[in-house]
Amino acid sequence: MADFSTELVFTKNWKTTQGHTLDVFRKTGGYAGFQRALSMPPADIIKVVLDSNLRGRGGAGFPVGRKWSFVPTNTDKPKYVCVNADESEPGTFKDRYILERDPHMLIEGTAICCLAIGAERAYIYIRGEFGLAYRRIEDAVTEAYKAGILGSNAMGSGKRIEMVVHRGAGAYICGEETALLESLEGKKGQPRLKPPFPAIEGFDACPTIVNNVETLAAVGPIVVRGAEWWKSLSRTQAEGGTKLVGVSGHVARPGVYEVPGGLTLRQVIFDVAGGMRRPDRALKAVIPGGSSCPILLPSEIDVGFDFDAIKTVGSLMGTGCPTVIEEGTCMVRLLRRIERFYAHESCGQCTPCREGGDWLYKILSRIESGIGTEADLDLIESVASKIEGHTICPFGEALSWPARSYLKKFRQEFLLHVERKACPFDHHAIAPVAMSGALA
Ligand SMILES: Cc1cc2nc3c(=O)[nH]c(=O)nc-3n(C[C@H](O)[C@H](O)[C@H](O)COP(=O)(O)O)c2cc1C
Repeated sequence: MADFSTELVFTKNWKTTQGHTLDVFRKTGGYAGFQRALSMPPADIIKVVLDSNLRGRGGAGFPVGRKWSFVPTNTDKPKYVCVNADESEPGTFKDRYILERDPHMLIEGTAICCLAIGAERAYIYIRGEFGLAYRRIEDAVTEAYKAGILGSNAMGSGKRIEMVVHRGAGAYICGEETALLESLEGKKGQPRLKPPFPAIEGFDACPTIVNNVETLAAVGPIVVRGAEWWKSLSRTQAEGGTKLVGVSGHVARPGVYEVPGGLTLRQVIFDVAGGMRRPDRALKAVIPGGSSCPILLPSEIDVGFDFDAIKTVGSLMGTGCPTVIEEGTCMVRLLRRIERFYAHESCGQCTPCREGGDWLYKILSRIESGIGTEADLDLIESVASKIEGHTICPFGEALSWPARSYLKKFRQEFLLHVERKACPFDHHAIAPVAMSGALA
């Protein structure tokens, strides 16, 4: 088996039971990056992040330094940093580990981001369902205040850096950055039209940087060790660094791993996560980075597991958390389950998403339970194509991409359900769902 060991950046303290404490964090070099950033001009902080090629780890892979550089310097408005710790995409579970096992890493990166853009206050917006992660980040913020790292005189610098942990109420859409901001302002969590982007008009209509947990956790080490060091950790210089991959599904060793950037998806699944959990079942498909990503066939996984390379096979790296699916899994049932989630989580603001999600779920339920028709296959494509690109936020794509890609790549399986008037796979039958009425 190939050796993909790397210098550990995110996970170096995960094996110690006290890795979440300030004591351990400081003993392993923690807050040296913040200390250094306090003496750097903001433009120099942005430059080192820009030069490192760090890309946003929340799904879209936007260059982090570039986003920070959009924040206007010629304004009297207060500026804010918002940490996106909502992590609710099915199949994604890497940010939770940082929050639980090394929360000071996130606090340090967030504080440095405040210095870079001239913000005095940061909000950590955390998924409502998180229990331990919430307690750990709350405790870590309290510890950082008590130690004088945060507050009106951060590390004795005379600079004010305040941090507030805000708990969400369990809505997936509040991971979308503008819905997050609405929710933080105390309103209904519904996405805003962009532009203006949050870097110009975000929280309270003031310039705001929204970044993912893993993204910000990388910033402290980058400031200490430099952009070239970060790039050297990756096999693809275009992205730089190590990354957290959270592998789940039918693999031998599911879990969160830190790997050097630039491995292929096959290497992540077979070399890092141990391959298929049952040797007698071959790989059938992979959802590369959260349930909204278009599905990949086994023939498509010899591709770099990074933001740019994976686009060449028509999908996305998303959150970097692949779900592995073995032969014997019903793709109609799987898609039905995914669409049930999205139909339930639609914020309801845009008609194509609000209505279309429910339609997709009900059509798939018909097919899976053996009362679908061949025309239903065309209806799925028709409905999905009318959602995609016709909504305020990319939730519409999250609904339509799985539907279109599963149908395209597993059409025969959908047809088999229609022809046999039953699911051809060996699992319990599910009740048919009428075209009207509540979700099952
Ligand atoms: C429906 C939806 C849900 C999202 N959920 C999350 C999330 O839970 N965490 C996250 O970091 N980004 C999420 N995003 C992406 C954010 O809108 C935003 O791009 C990201 O927080 C920016 O951080 P980054 O540049 O560090 O990746 C979501 C986007 C959409 C459309």
